[in-house]
Formats: sequence, C-alpha cells, structure tokens
Amino acid sequence: MTHYRDLGLSNTREMFRKAMAGGYAVPAYNFNNLEQLQAILTGCLKSRSPLILQISKGARAYADQTLLRYLAEGAMKIVGAAEHPIPVALHLDHGDSYELCVSCIETGFSSVMIDGSGLPYDENVALTSKVVEYAHKHDVTVEGELGVLAGIEDAVSHAASHYTDPEDVEDFVGKTGVDSLAISIGTSHGAYKFKVKPGESPPALRFDILEEVERRIPGFPIVLHGASSVLPQYVEMINKYGGQLEGAIGVSEDQLRRAAKSSVCKINIDSDGRLVVTAVIRKVFAESPKEFDPRKYLGPAREELTNLIIRKNREVLGSADRA
Ligand code: G3H
Ligand code: 13P
Ligand code: ZN
Repeated sequence: MTHYRDLGLSNTREMFRKAMAGGYAVPAYNFNNLEQLQAILTGCLKSRSPLILQISKGARAYADQTLLRYLAEGAMKIVGAAEHPIPVALHLDHGDSYELCVSCIETGFSSVMIDGSGLPYDENVALTSKVVEYAHKHDVTVEGELGVLAGIEDAVSHAASHYTDPEDVEDFVGKTGVDSLAISIGTSHGAYKFKVKPGESPPALRFDILEEVERRIPGFPIVLHGASSVLPQYVEMINKYGGQLEGAIGVSEDQLRRAAKSSVCKINIDSDGRLVVTAVIRKVFAESPKEFDPRKYLGPAREELTNLIIRKNREVLGSADRA
C-alpha cells in the first residue's frame, strides 16, 4: 500500500472548503501521457492554482497504471521543489467498480469517483457507500454521481442524459457519506455537447436545478463534468488542417464562470485539452510535412496546452493565485 500523503498529494477536502469560501472552482484535468501531464502541471504551477489530476479507467488501460502512477509521483517531486508549491490531488475519474477504486487507493490516489449514476438508485447508494467506507479508512475523498450525462468517451458512454433530481440529493449524500457530488444539469462529455442549428445558441445549463440542490444541501461541494468549452479557434484549426469536426460545440465560458462562483467546487475538463493537442499537431504536420521527430509536434502541442490551462484557471475557473 502506498499512501498518497507519502507522495506529497492532498485529498480534495481542504481544496473544496477553500473553493466554496472563495467562490471559485478547482480544475480537474485528465491526462494520459507525459506531455499532457507536463502541460497541466506547468500551467497550474505558473498560475498558482490548486490542481486535481484525473486518470480515467481508459487512461490506465492506455498508458499502463504503473507508469501513470510513477508519472504522477514524478510530478509531485517537481511540485515539492517548486518555488511556490501547489496542492495536488490524484483522482480516479469515473471509477466503475469497488475493486478499481480500491486498487487506485492502494497505489496512491488521494481521491476517487465512483460513478454509479447508470445504476438503479438503491444500487448506486449501496456501491457508493461501500467505496466511501473503504476510502475514508485511508482519508481518501470520494465523489459520487446522481443523474446521467450523455456523451461518448472510452469508458463512459451514455446515449441519453437525464437531469439530477434535486429531491434525491439529501438522501444520497446522507446515506453514502460522499465528500462531493457530480450532478447533471445539461452538460455532456465530448466535443458535441448540444444539437443546435447553425446560427442558433446552445441551450443554457439548468442553473435552476443547481440552485435547488444548493438549497437542499447548502455548502456541499458539487462537481461539474462535461465542462469543456470546445473553443471554436481550435475546432477551426483542426478543420482547416484536414480534420472533420463540423458541429462541435461546448459549454460557454460565461456559464462556467457562473458555475464556478456557485457551490460547484470542481470543474472537469478533458476534451478541450484533446482538441488543442490535435489542432497543433495537425498544423505542424500540414506546414512541415518533412518533420518526423515527435518532439517537434508534441512540444508545440504541450506549449499551447499549457497556455490554455493558464487561461482557464485565470479567466474562467477563478482558481489562479489561490494556491
Ligand atoms: O469523462 C470522461 C473523461 O473525459 C475520460 O475519458 O474514458 O476516454 O479516458 P476516457
Ligand atoms: P469534457 O468531455 O467536457 O472535457 O468532460 C470531461 C469530464 O467530465 C471528465 O470526467
Ligand atoms: Zn466526466
């Protein structure tokens, strides 16, 4: 058993307490490889933001769970040696079984999500409670989920969404003992979040549901998944250099700013990073067809991703200068 504290990691409890009090959200960025991790780390160190580093089941399968864990451990050496260290949580994104959560906790994760949102309510309560019981023995924090987000990624796939029913939240939080709760208020995973006709604006998020949740569980940390903005400049860049992402659309930054000021303490961003990396690599390939050194295209992609992260922390989530 490797305890996260021995790696210099933090759980999310204090991070969320401060975010709630300060009216901002802590960024949760997914990583699958070295360059993404470097960009996330550099971006958060430069902007002095607390950080939740997320690893999905798909990331563990892609990059090897042992290698990823040592990458995270290496990242913590860099954080520890930084002039201005930041709090970092290592978090399992969309854990789908008790066994997976236990395996992550045993190898140094400081926070896990158990996503029972696709299960019948009572089964979600039972599975989440079981994970909380084990996690809390090790002072690891747990994120549960109520309501279903649509969208397709490797390990998370639902054709249709349904909003969180605020009437369930007190019962769920009370019975399970979770430390934070992901809710569904209209976001979805991936780069196609809304079906809109050209020229039309996407529908607003259901802030009325969020407000009712806040009324029922005041001061309780809420998590927003599917929160990429799918920035048009990167979609256009991808399409300009041979990609085909027509109709890609995300959550407006204004709505994210509003969410970050509420009881939403954690905002999950993965697709935006994927888009930046893809856009830059496509551009390098198109403009320098003779290039074949991965450092010459992964390097610029890493730099652009670093800048994106700094901008999000500073201008959208409000987490910059909070560490
Ligand atoms: O919400 C899912 C995350 O974006 C991770 O996606 O399962 O494709 O790694 P993934
Ligand atoms: P996006 O697909 O909007 O980046 O959402 C990521 C996410 O929710 C990870 O759990
Ligand atoms: Zn998610």
